Amino acid sequence: MGIKINRLEGCIGAEVEGVDITGPIDAQTYLQLQDALDEHIVLVFHDQDITDAQQVIFSERFGPLEMSLPSDPFGGGGPVFNIANVDADGQIRPAEDPLTLYQSGNLLWHSDGSFREVPLQTSFLSAKVIPPEGGETEFSSLRAAYAALPSEKKVLLEGLVAEHSMAHSRARIAPNLLSKSFQDEVPPVRHLLVRTISATGEKVHFVGSYASHVIGWPFEKGRDLLQELLQWSTQPQFVYRHQWRVNDLVMWDNRLSLHRGRPWDVGKYKRIMHRTTLAGEGSTVPQD
Ligand code: SIN
Repeated sequence: MGIKINRLEGCIGAEVEGVDITGPIDAQTYLQLQDALDEHIVLVFHDQDITDAQQVIFSERFGPLEMSLPSDPFGGGGPVFNIANVDADGQIRPAEDPLTLYQSGNLLWHSDGSFREVPLQTSFLSAKVIPPEGGETEFSSLRAAYAALPSEKKVLLEGLVAEHSMAHSRARIAPNLLSKSFQDEVPPVRHLLVRTISATGEKVHFVGSYASHVIGWPFEKGRDLLQELLQWSTQPQFVYRHQWRVNDLVMWDNRLSLHRGRPWDVGKYKRIMHRTTLAGEGSTVPQD
């Protein structure tokens, strides 16, 4: 059976049929998937009962993988992020456990790895265990949101630089969530507020929960602008909500979208997801 790409309602997302990630996939199919990702930003695959090794092999065909940071409590330096509310014995951690609180940062709108100097490109998230209610993931199209911005706003944003940091994102949840070694590994970084995708020349704004302020602007004024852009970008007409089934795999382009997990009864139901992520294409800020 050939591959079929079924566009979802709205401005972001498509479902893919006819691809078995557990088996060999030919080069032509990869090209079709890359084209579909470029067009739809989010691709949904159902019924993919994959191992981590198979997810790594599938992801790597799209580009080099980024390793998690050594002090990341859910990555530990490896290629697979274990996004889960269970401990090593598979028991649900208490809702107030610092690791669970740390991971609740994923419930804020963000682009994966925007706290890194080279932000991450494409993410692949597979669902192993899902709660009976809640725990969806929402994706918003920055492409559509940027296109709909008034032209004077686009002019204002051009050339501005924002600071992004892991510390800023997690401070919104609770103090002291990051170990000292993790904080040292992820100092604040700067990104253009409007970046250009090198392959296509497409422009898109770059915001999310890691972005704290605008360089050279009074702090509150910069925060307000970032908040306004975030609210603009996540209006319902730009958003697709993915209702997970076990063995779904969803891949998305972090440059062209924001995403957030939705809450669920975290102290009662398990949610176990595995993520792999492609390395980004370079710094967003021109280097001297
Ligand atoms: C992520 O932010 O990478 C994961 C989102 C989710 O758990 O729904």
